Amino acid sequence: MELRSRRWFDRQGELGLQHRSVLRTLGMNPELFRGKPVIGIANTWSELNNCNLGLRALAAAVKRGVMAAGGVPLEFNSISLGEELMKPTAMLYRNLLAMEVEETLRSYPIDGVVLLGGCDKTIPAQLMAAASANIPAIQVCAGPKIPGCWRGHRLGSGVALWEYMDKYRLGEVDGSSAEELEARYSASVGTCNTMGTASTMAVLAEALGMMLPGTSTIPAVDSRRLAAAEKSGFAIVNLVQRQIKPSDIMTRDAFENALIVYSAIGGSTNAVIHLLAMAGRLGIDLQLADFDRVARMVPMLVDVEPSGEKLMDDFDAAGGVPALMRELQHMLSLGCLTVTGETLGKNLESAPEPQGDTIRSLASAPYADGSIAVLHGNLVPRGAILRTSTASPDLLRHSGPALVFESYEDMLQRIDDPDLPVTPSSVLVLRNAGPVGGPGMPEWGAIPIPRKMLSRGIKDMLRISDARMSGTSSGTIVLHACPEAAVGGPLGLLRDGDMVEIDVASRKLSVLLDEEEMDHRRQEWRPPPRKHVRGYPLLYMEHVLQADEGCDFDFLRLVPGEDLGLVEP
Ligand code: FES
Ligand code: MG
Repeated sequence: MELRSRRWFDRQGELGLQHRSVLRTLGMNPELFRGKPVIGIANTWSELNNCNLGLRALAAAVKRGVMAAGGVPLEFNSISLGEELMKPTAMLYRNLLAMEVEETLRSYPIDGVVLLGGCDKTIPAQLMAAASANIPAIQVCAGPKIPGCWRGHRLGSGVALWEYMDKYRLGEVDGSSAEELEARYSASVGTCNTMGTASTMAVLAEALGMMLPGTSTIPAVDSRRLAAAEKSGFAIVNLVQRQIKPSDIMTRDAFENALIVYSAIGGSTNAVIHLLAMAGRLGIDLQLADFDRVARMVPMLVDVEPSGEKLMDDFDAAGGVPALMRELQHMLSLGCLTVTGETLGKNLESAPEPQGDTIRSLASAPYADGSIAVLHGNLVPRGAILRTSTASPDLLRHSGPALVFESYEDMLQRIDDPDLPVTPSSVLVLRNAGPVGGPGMPEWGAIPIPRKMLSRGIKDMLRISDARMSGTSSGTIVLHACPEAAVGGPLGLLRDGDMVEIDVASRKLSVLLDEEEMDHRRQEWRPPPRKHVRGYPLLYMEHVLQADEGCDFDFLRLVPGEDLGLVEP
């Protein structure tokens, strides 16, 4: 096997000496590194990102595993994308992290990489980088945080906060309680403990075969997580020795497996964008239509908030992803290779049977029609997404007048205005919040129910935007309207009072306007002013693809006819 790191460390003369002296600076003896594979540990640990705060301890465990297996671990940092503090959204920087990791792998002597991610965008970014670099890689996640308890209730990340805020806006809870909630809301390091985007992407990384079986759901502070990290360090050295690359694991069949698992967990809508972007890096033909097709075929089995009632530690206790995949195994491609070096089928031979009722059996599944739907129509010619598992059944077929918010600021300013011309049948529309409009497609899509409606007991309304929403949100919320308003999509042509019609059974979302009127409005349409005239955000706005293609940069996808993998420096 020809290790790429040898080109640095086995060199004769001045350069070789210089390169080896870097390892000597770490205090390493030549016996420890000579001829051994160099394993990068890509960390996204940061004090700016509480979700990924535990990764520092995990990196130490990974190192132990790498050394025990005969590799040389070298940890490096990259930008940490924390959805809580990063504005307007960490999504704006997903592609930047992916570029940073890919370019680090290209330019340094690294033979294989362990990717340490957690918060929403970090795992997708790292897997995108690994796909493009196509050197052996294994994903490790931060794990869900333990739930804080408050007033006899276990707090689900996001979900508990949204519920509280609705009560707060109605004056049903006193102000001092907010401080109690604040102190208990995030009870440990780790990612959201509900089936938000971070949990969804960790589960999907495991379903794709890029993470060791059974490790995506282990709570952040459980000592099994350290053991899993250590084992991942051991596993990567095996992958390097056998030259098993991401493209050997993330095949078309593996993506199909991931879509099946995605539907069964009632996962976050953001996963649609991330999986499309990952597939685009590998030249795999994955389309929005595939998500809809699989959703119709696979019912939701996992009972975790926000689609269900329980939390990620319950899913873990029930047997986690291996138990779920065991239940689904007759649908899965069992021949897919995984980071264990074995096939999925082989891994599943030791999978536990689901315990308790957090993972339902296929026979007892409540949603016959999966958990998401892909909608089309003259309002969304290139598609939009609805998480049907959190939607209100009576709104799945609905028509009502549009109430349009021009921007996020406009929405915040007017949503609780007593004079807002809103009725329970109104369709709330938020635009200019897409990939270019946001920019970065912020999680603004869960437009709050106007106070005027909340006080009448209205809990859900049809909402439509070109934004994304937090994986922890719920409601009848159409997202990712494509193309977005800011690039001339039809959402930008809507006016207050236009009748909007949704029929989820037939996957339709339309505005009752004739083509002539739409054309007329199209001529009058002007793009919204751009917020950024320089820097990374400008690069982003100029190169980001629309939601139906995963919001990657156009220049980062695999060029047809080109080989995958690093062009060596
Ligand atoms: Fe980081 Fe939810 S905000 S995982
Ligand atoms: Mg609950």
